[in-house]
Amino acid sequence: MSLLEVKNLEVSFHTPDGNVGAVQDVSFSLEQGKTLAIVGESGSGKSQTAFSIMGLLAKNGTSKGSVKFDGTEILNVSEKELNTYRATQIGMIFQDPMTSLNPFVRVSDQMAEVLVRHKGMSKSDAIKDCIKMLDAVKIPDAKRRIRMYPHEFSGGMRQRVMIAMALLCHPRLIIADEPTTALDVTVQAQIMDLMGQLQSDFGMGIILITHDLGVVAGSCEDTLVLYGGRVMETGPTQQLFSEPTHPYTRGLLRAVPRLGTKHAQLATIPGNPPNMLQPPVGCAFSPRCDFATDRCKTFKPILTKFAQDRSRACHLQQEELV
Ligand SMILES: Nc1ncnc2c1ncn2[C@@H]1O[C@H](COP(=O)(O)OP(=O)(O)OP(=O)(O)O)[C@@H](O)[C@H]1O
Ligand SMILES: [Mg+2]
Repeated sequence: MSLLEVKNLEVSFHTPDGNVGAVQDVSFSLEQGKTLAIVGESGSGKSQTAFSIMGLLAKNGTSKGSVKFDGTEILNVSEKELNTYRATQIGMIFQDPMTSLNPFVRVSDQMAEVLVRHKGMSKSDAIKDCIKMLDAVKIPDAKRRIRMYPHEFSGGMRQRVMIAMALLCHPRLIIADEPTTALDVTVQAQIMDLMGQLQSDFGMGIILITHDLGVVAGSCEDTLVLYGGRVMETGPTQQLFSEPTHPYTRGLLRAVPRLGTKHAQLATIPGNPPNMLQPPVGCAFSPRCDFATDRCKTFKPILTKFAQDRSRACHLQQEELV
């Protein structure tokens, strides 16, 4: 049984201008101890996929489909039931640290509260554990800083506090939404190493949501490429990176900075992601795809398995993409 099994997930938002289909027919699974990357440009549906799994969609959002954690359905279950999973079984690291940190409460109180509530620890024991975890995410002078308020931390330090908080109860699954984007490259690498270490110590599964394909290459077994709320391509990271089969994946990979490449020389994918209020009729990527045909502009390609563990949603054959 998979640690997490997501099937036909749909997320839509009601807005005064119409319906936004933010996530459409997304399926994937994650095994214990493995890492899955979810990549795609801004607006592709990465965060909403995570929010729907955690039952944290905005009020105007609804989700359909199935999300099984360790075999138990958790999509659209009651808040009470979800609370038995949050923190202890599933930890989430948010894109914006202020989503999960209360600016008016000292970091020590916020962190300790998690252990007091979920693990029944005494406050003083909890604080000791929290300091250890802050040390682990390389917050200098954690013993003193834990008494501070979130706004007294820099952006990067806040991000680390949040990572420490998500890891406190050693959850079995971590969903990390751009956990290192605000950090400099050296710290990014340290944090990824730390997560990798905790993963091997505790067998955690990790879903890593990121723009940064450089981070993915070194740390994720599998990758799911999202665009316009749909899966474009999925497979083992190494294969997907060495032989991308979707024009969108190829475009993303061309935009990855390589050592020695100046930023100015980076290729970006021309054009912009779709307006999700009026998405393209056919393949969402067709308006930006160099290879798009009338068929692509008219019919949505279905995600189809073409090799062991690999699927793609594209009408074109590989040999047509040259
Ligand atoms: N509350 C909301 N009401 C309406 N539309 C929303 C709402 N929240 C998100 N969306 C839309 O859902 C789509 C997917 O958003 P999502 O936050 O998942 O993007 P993302 O892939 O995480 O992007 P980024 O990389 O910028 O974080 C976007 O088109 C976004 O505008
Ligand atoms: Mg996001």
